[in-house]
Amino acid sequence: MNRTRLYILSLILALVAEIACQSFPPEFQFGVATSSYQIEGAWNVSDKGESIWDHLLHIRPDIIADLSNGDVACDSYHLWKQDIDLIADMGLDFYRFSINWPRLLPTGFPNKVSEDGARYYGNLIDGLRARGIAPVVTLYHWELPQSLQDLGGWTNPLSVEWFADYARIVFTLFADRVDTWITINEPIFACESPYRGIVAPAIVSDVGALLCSKYIMLAHAAAYRVYDEEFKPQYGGQVSFAHHEFWFEPKTDKDQELTELARDYAFSRFSYPVYSTEGGWPPLLEAYMAEKSRIEGYTRSKLPAFTAEEIKLLKGTYDFFAINHYTSRTVRAALSGEEFGIFGIDGLDEIGAVLESKPEWGSALGWLKVNPEGIRHVLNRIKHQYGDLKVMITESGYSDDSDDLNDVGRIDYYKTYLEQVLLAINEDKVNVVGYTAWSLIDNFEWNSGYQSHFGLYAVDFSDPSRKRTAKASARYYESVARTKSLDVENLTAN
Ligand code: NOJ
Repeated sequence: MNRTRLYILSLILALVAEIACQSFPPEFQFGVATSSYQIEGAWNVSDKGESIWDHLLHIRPDIIADLSNGDVACDSYHLWKQDIDLIADMGLDFYRFSINWPRLLPTGFPNKVSEDGARYYGNLIDGLRARGIAPVVTLYHWELPQSLQDLGGWTNPLSVEWFADYARIVFTLFADRVDTWITINEPIFACESPYRGIVAPAIVSDVGALLCSKYIMLAHAAAYRVYDEEFKPQYGGQVSFAHHEFWFEPKTDKDQELTELARDYAFSRFSYPVYSTEGGWPPLLEAYMAEKSRIEGYTRSKLPAFTAEEIKLLKGTYDFFAINHYTSRTVRAALSGEEFGIFGIDGLDEIGAVLESKPEWGSALGWLKVNPEGIRHVLNRIKHQYGDLKVMITESGYSDDSDDLNDVGRIDYYKTYLEQVLLAINEDKVNVVGYTAWSLIDNFEWNSGYQSHFGLYAVDFSDPSRKRTAKASARYYESVARTKSLDVENLTAN
């Protein structure tokens, strides 16, 4: 072979290697996610019960930046067929959406199942399947029935049974058509922000946040066991909860120990009881909280202990690791008297940790700092902590407040984060099986209302028909999903 031919051959080989590095495994799945309160609207149609969000925002609109609420939102209760069209147009494998508990069970209890509620979710599931899109269904994306909140909500130990009863009804209705289930979305934000007065039910109680942490995890476990014992033998589906994890790194070498505690406090509090071989609370956190509670004058730890039976009930209640990941923070010790910002975003007051960003990290809207390497670190942390699990990224996405359909920032976020996911798969051998973009459409972004946009599609909220329009990122994500590769053009919206 002469030198020119050798050179050409080496170029071809390099190109093939380059393309392989840019490609996801053939069985890798791409999807999008939404949640019921954020998109459905129709808050009081038919016999639907009131959720904690309906209730709160009708009396406290001031907690939302633009004073808005989810009464109408994207009107997906009526426009669900359009949503399915958008997902099908992108050629995606699955759609993760959630069931609004009081829409299905107007009283919160199983004494009454709403026919309209059941029909709505049944139609959505059937409509997706008819287009070859797998439904991934979340049971709890933060809409507790207000009737149950009035009885103490997640701080009441009986909430474990209430959730298991609700889960059994959902599985009875839909387990024949749904293979992948998420019990609870982000227990940390289902317990911490609600008990810091930031989001529904907007109660201020550090004890409440920690009680909620215990019972919400037990509720997850109870629902998992219901499926495992009563439905899995027949349908063989998979169940997990959606864990939320930022990437945390120490600001300086002296912050190493505090960073470990911060990781335990914010993240392992929810993952360790389920995924570790020992079960129970993470030991470092348990010891810290016991001592802190003692110093504060409590007679027992604010972090309520698990019984041996509860530890056993929780341990191993997963079929895969579901992870929501968006952003990163550095951790440092708070200075004496230092004020804390928003929980989990700017600081963790219970452990005296301040959370900050690095100058080299990019910035989306508000809290979302862009650090693509963070997702690789988090995936590796899961593997190192809990072993070689099947991992599904159940949320990841980028926010802006722009109406520009050429959303280059979002395209760049998906491109750079997905590059890191590929490195985690190829170099670090983390078994990542899927990626979910948050979100399909711009929607009600909790405290930011409609000012913060996460959608691949824009929604015109001033138009009664809630017109959806593709952003450039929708076309980009479509190309990635169809080719299962990052070797695609950055397309512009037309
Ligand atoms: C995670 C939550 O599950 C979702 O409801 C929220 O909109 C996104 N993060 C973006 O903040």
